[in-house]
Amino acid sequence: MSGIYIHIPFCRKACLYCDFHFSTNLENKKQLVDSICKEINNRKNYLENKPVKSIYFGGGTPSLLSLSELEQILKTIHSNFIIDEKAEITFELNPEDAELNYLQEIKKLGINRLSIGLQSFDEEELKWMNRAHNAQQNFDCIKTAQQAGLNNISIDLIYGSKFQTPETWRKTLQAAFALNTQHISSYNLTVESRTQLQHLIKEKKEKDIDSEMSSQLFDILIEETEKNGFTQYEISNFCKSGFMAEHNSNYWRGLSYLGIGPSAHSYNGISRRFNNRSNAQYIQSIENDKPFYEEEELTANDKYNEYILTRLRTEWGCDLAEMKNLFTDKYITHFLEQLKPYQQKNFIEIKQNTVTLNKQGKHFADGIASDLFYTKKDGSKHNL
Ligand SMILES: C[S@@+](CC[C@H](N)C(=O)[O-])C[C@H]1O[C@@H](n2cnc3c(N)ncnc32)[C@H](O)[C@@H]1O
Repeated sequence: MSGIYIHIPFCRKACLYCDFHFSTNLENKKQLVDSICKEINNRKNYLENKPVKSIYFGGGTPSLLSLSELEQILKTIHSNFIIDEKAEITFELNPEDAELNYLQEIKKLGINRLSIGLQSFDEEELKWMNRAHNAQQNFDCIKTAQQAGLNNISIDLIYGSKFQTPETWRKTLQAAFALNTQHISSYNLTVESRTQLQHLIKEKKEKDIDSEMSSQLFDILIEETEKNGFTQYEISNFCKSGFMAEHNSNYWRGLSYLGIGPSAHSYNGISRRFNNRSNAQYIQSIENDKPFYEEEELTANDKYNEYILTRLRTEWGCDLAEMKNLFTDKYITHFLEQLKPYQQKNFIEIKQNTVTLNKQGKHFADGIASDLFYTKKDGSKHNL
């Protein structure tokens, strides 16, 4: 089983908080689509003929693709890979692009799941984020998508900005539930390097994120989604029964995936590849058959650390029986030893040999994972 990720590195506007790779210069979009197709052709053996269970168009803004560009990419994928007939094919859509005909046509091309970046329902906050849509477009786009027959819809919401209080966040969530979507991804606003938000905070023109408020908002998110029939299957991901995101779940399960396009990553169980970020360099390298990626072979430490980092965030957790198959004894001993303080603090649950974070522990997921790493992130070794 494996997946394919296609990165569409264009956006209309730069969001205040975003450090994903994108360009607002759309001039070379056609050339870039040609390069993406050439990369797909060149890498047809990467997944070793394993059937593809999921395809994900992410960005950037995939809904900036014309129908013919999307069709060109999908045809190229189908002619190079074995695509399972029930494969989940997700397309990230921005609300301002939700035109009925466009959505009906992408459905005909095989798209069967949408991930829509709503982010907020507050006009002022949307402007502050520098989004290209307003709140009314959020409501309209979900209706239009449903009208087009796209009934597996995920929405993205961000919490933790200066606009939010527990009351406004509860209202936002109620508005989201009323849209009747099957999945919600909700992320705590983070200040990423080289973003406008970071710049404004440095210049003291914006306040830093209030982490105590974020923590309260996270509790409300868990509480409200649960009341409204969603399961939190990963720290930031919530689904109605039967609508877990297959593609992302496969990342967290450590399955192989092929990442196509500038800045995309790939993983085949042995190594990880990182494509160049620059659109222009990517196009040039692909056109001239020059290297366009860096590759890193994963050590045993890397594999163990990645397992901890991803699994601890999920409802299926760290499975000791599976870990004993995957890792040597020294890792298991280390894991159990490092886990003890968190057991004492009552941050974790152990059921049938599976370790998961409880509600309290979920607030500290990344910190706990980093303490369980065999080599800490700063490179220092744990004392064993
Ligand atoms: C790179 S975006 C692409 C999605 C889509 N094009 C859009 O902007 O609506 C993927 C998601 O990551 C989340 N995201 C990106 N940067 C973030 C940040 N600094 N803090 C919290 N969430 C962030 C947003 O919710 C966003 O929808």
